[in-house]
This record gives sequence, C-alpha cells and structure tokens, in this order.
Amino acid sequence: MQLIPGLDYIEEQESLFLNGDRLYPKIRRFSDLLKVLKYPDKLREDGAAYYMFRDLPPLRDSWARFDITIIPKWEVGGELAKTKGHYHNSPAGEPSYPEIYYVHKGKALYLLQKPGESYSKIIDFIAVQAELGDMIVIPPGYGHVTVNLGESSLVMSNIIYREVKSSYQPFEGLKGAAYHYTYSGFLRNENYTEVPEIRFEKPWRKSGPVVLEFARNEPSFAWLKDPREACKIGFLGATCKK
Ligand SMILES: [Fe+2]
Repeated sequence: MQLIPGLDYIEEQESLFLNGDRLYPKIRRFSDLLKVLKYPDKLREDGAAYYMFRDLPPLRDSWARFDITIIPKWEVGGELAKTKGHYHNSPAGEPSYPEIYYVHKGKALYLLQKPGESYSKIIDFIAVQAELGDMIVIPPGYGHVTVNLGESSLVMSNIIYREVKSSYQPFEGLKGAAYHYTYSGFLRNENYTEVPEIRFEKPWRKSGPVVLEFARNEPSFAWLKDPREACKIGFLGATCKK
C-alpha cells in the first residue's frame, strides 16, 4: 500500500519500503512495555510490539523530523496494542514541545494527558479517535499514548522539532497512562492520585498527508519549535495554564 502520494513509500505486512529498498526500524518489544501494561502478567512471550522508522525523507534536511510507526494488532490480557507513552521536554520556562500525528492506515486512539503539580495528578485527559486522513496535534504540556483500535495494523507518522527529547519514565513509574484502553473500554489507572473524566475530541480531517503540506510550507509550522506560539493557536481545546 502506497502511503504518501508522490513518494514511493510502501507498507507491506509491517515492513516499510522506500523506492524499493527495505527500511530498518527501531523495534519496541513487549519486554520494553512491561512497566506500562495493565496486565503484564498476562504476557505469554516476548516479540515485536511496534516498529519505529525514524528521520525519513522528505524532511531529512529540515529542522523537523519525520517518522513512521507501524503498530500491529495485538492485545495483552484484553488491553489493546499501544505505544509506551512519553512526555516531551520543554524550552526553559515554557510548556513542552507539541507534535503532529497523521494516520495513513488503520484506526487509532490517541490518549493525551496533562499533569498538574505532579505526574500523578492529571488535570486534563483527552481521547481522540482517528483514521486515514486525520491529523492530531499533541498540544504543549501533554504526554501521549497511541492505541491501535483497528482490526489490522495501524500506520501513522509524526512530525516533531528534531531537538525534542522524549521522557518515558513518568509513564513507566505510573504503569501507563491515566486510563488504559481494553476490550471492556476505558479503565482508570489506580496508580494516579487525580484523574479527570475523559474529554473526547475530534481529529482534523486533511485532504492528504500533512508531511507534504509541511514540505511545501515549513514556516507555517514554526509553532512546532515554539510551544508558546502553539498555545496561542490552541489545539484540542487544551489550555497551557497550569
Ligand atoms: Fe511524542
């Protein structure tokens, strides 16, 4: 399946090819996810949980990085396939860097959470369902997890300022996000001391992959390296106030 018009990316059975060449991913294994699974004891054997293809064309020479992630369909104890979850770092005195996601294939559920005075006190929790053609912006200050909601693999891409660092520790320490998503629906994670009700938001429907728009007009995405600017635009009803 060709992922991006005008670029020869092909996804086939969880492998990714560019111009006919197979690309080699960084693999996140189930053993890397043990600390964030709802039911780690239900894991039967180790293996690849998802595949991350980092720093891809057409943005290799840009200040932003373009990555593609493939998450196969799996479940552990009824919890659906998901990423580990992380927060981004921040420029001094500002909220953390935002990020753009775009769905190329399958069905995704993005879980976003904003901590208050500590990581265990969540002051805003947003769930966004997305499918082919949808874009989601992770607002400044939010940690995030992606769940594969579909019946087959999920293929998504992200665009992020290339100086951004990810921190996985808060999600590991609290055993996942403030809600887990299972075949029984959302389950509150009891390791958090404060968790609000879930706020459901809609993604942004695009006419094509956002990376092409980015490549044509990088300056219009300057807010990716300026969280204060991203706060002014306002994404998903998020507030940048503490
Ligand atoms: Fe991220």
